[in-house]
Amino acid sequence: MCGIVGYIGDKQAAPFLLDGMSKLEYRGYDSAGIAVYEKGKIRVEKCVGRLDSLRQKLAGNVPVGTVGIGHTRWATHGRPSDRNAHPHTDSSGDFVVVHNGIIENYLALKEALLEKGHVFLSETDSEVVAHLMEENYNGNFEETVKKVLRMIEGSYSLVFMCAAEPDKLICTKKDNPLVIGLGNGENFIASDIPAIIAKTRRTYIMNDGEIATVTKDAVWVQDINGTPISKKVFEVNWNAEAAEKGGFEHFMLKEIYEQPKAMRDTMTGRVAKDGSHIEFPELNWTSEEFADINKIFIVACGTAYHAGMVGKYYFEQLARVPVEVDIASEFSYRSPIIDSNCLTIIISQSGETSDTLAALREARRLGSRTLAVTNVVGSSIAREADQVVYTYAGPEIAVASTKAYTTQLLLMLMLSIYVGQIKGTLSAGRAKELVAGIKVIPEQIHELLENVDQLKVFATKYGNSEDVFYLGRSLDYAVALEGALKMKEISYIHAEAYAAGELKHGTLALIVEGVPVIVLATQEDVYEKTVSNIQEVKARDAVVIAIAMEGDDRIPKYADHVIFIPRAEKYLTPLLSVLPLQLLAYYAALTRGCDVDKPRNLAKSVTVE
Ligand code: AGP
Repeated sequence: MCGIVGYIGDKQAAPFLLDGMSKLEYRGYDSAGIAVYEKGKIRVEKCVGRLDSLRQKLAGNVPVGTVGIGHTRWATHGRPSDRNAHPHTDSSGDFVVVHNGIIENYLALKEALLEKGHVFLSETDSEVVAHLMEENYNGNFEETVKKVLRMIEGSYSLVFMCAAEPDKLICTKKDNPLVIGLGNGENFIASDIPAIIAKTRRTYIMNDGEIATVTKDAVWVQDINGTPISKKVFEVNWNAEAAEKGGFEHFMLKEIYEQPKAMRDTMTGRVAKDGSHIEFPELNWTSEEFADINKIFIVACGTAYHAGMVGKYYFEQLARVPVEVDIASEFSYRSPIIDSNCLTIIISQSGETSDTLAALREARRLGSRTLAVTNVVGSSIAREADQVVYTYAGPEIAVASTKAYTTQLLLMLMLSIYVGQIKGTLSAGRAKELVAGIKVIPEQIHELLENVDQLKVFATKYGNSEDVFYLGRSLDYAVALEGALKMKEISYIHAEAYAAGELKHGTLALIVEGVPVIVLATQEDVYEKTVSNIQEVKARDAVVIAIAMEGDDRIPKYADHVIFIPRAEKYLTPLLSVLPLQLLAYYAALTRGCDVDKPRNLAKSVTVE
């Protein structure tokens, strides 16, 4: 996730670009840059760090010109650095692009371009686009863009500048947002409405595959075959603050709804094109080195720890490697028995959590191989681990983690399939079945997010309860832990999760009339036992809200209410069953008037021990 902006008009471009980028910093903030057409050529200025670093760099020497583009970066390919910052140029400097997304086939394209003598300055996937423009330019900017779009695969929103045709910007998108702001004698381009709302409320919301030629007086939209597209003006009636949240009331809700896209981004380049297997091109260990792993430690805090709990089931069942899951703050003090055949997987959204970083250092000290699973490229944990795989969830602003969690689950599943393939514990047929399930997850999440009315009703009805309990067995138990954490941290309701089989060993004493008990019942192999647990709490007059799979026609007989999730294969259900739990917590917090995005006493990233 990055922020991109463009300006063409009568006024100076740089002030709009810098201001627009400041409104998009929530989309990424590890480096920033602008390109402005100045004195017959395109001048690019960029640097690592927040936008303020760029402002300081430009102080007294801001590019002068009325056409330009800008970018605030959230690194995916290539760590944050001056060179990896956007805009990117071709070898001549005549073609300049800003990009948000991932060019999946960039390595193959880059190799071909290197052979032709192109010199690359960055490690990014995006730079290939500028070189492809140079390589294919035939005197017609639009036609060259179309030709290049036919070559690239992946997700993108892109804005192009061409020094030979400085009276226009061209922009396009696929699976990433892009809007055009319509002004008088000037037009604006941005990833998102907050960047343009101070200038205009009249917009074109771009759809996938649309290519817009933007001049100061007109916007002309066509598809890749040159068919003109007539766009309807969308009048923005949100205020600036709501616009930053994409029209959602809170960042948490926005991030919940970003999960289908986050899933797609996380699987990009890792699900084989023919759907037969999982690959991790970024991992440098050999198959033999993977095969040698005889124990895995998963270490993390909070939500990331809960993702690790799910990961344990995946690795043990699919890759047949024994796994221990540790809370990071405990790991360093328990003298774990580790050697070089152990793999320690460190999960952290921020990549900066102090306890998790300390655990990573301890694992390294003890001789373990280390693999970071993190969302922040170039973070301390990403830098210090032997290898890293990124969850491409995009920046997570709300303190309560949602999309980071589901992308962590997806990575745990894909990694365990990957290791299972290497170790031969997973047949080709089984791997293929799982991959097929993974591919439909974004659509299934989308489906769930379309039907939230029932959850709002439950949240209003039970949102003022003192306590709520979460029960589940096997994978459902691991998800129950995350559901309870979400509820406590944002609604301040006392919420506890238990392995359903543990009920009778103590917790049952807490079950009294009217207490809500959320029971996850998605795992077929323990279904009967879970139903018995429902009956145990019903016998104490608790109110049972069950989370079950579509088509389960028995569950309504036992539970007071049922929330159905789309039918999925057992290892995929955690990616779905957590959604209603996130939303229940969110709507319960609203019912109670809590500050959802900034819950009391909590910080997004805990960088103290
Ligand atoms: C979850 O909603 C929390 N905000 C918290 O538990 C978080 O997951 C934990 O602090 C770990 O953070 P990290 O993933 O950035 O390391």
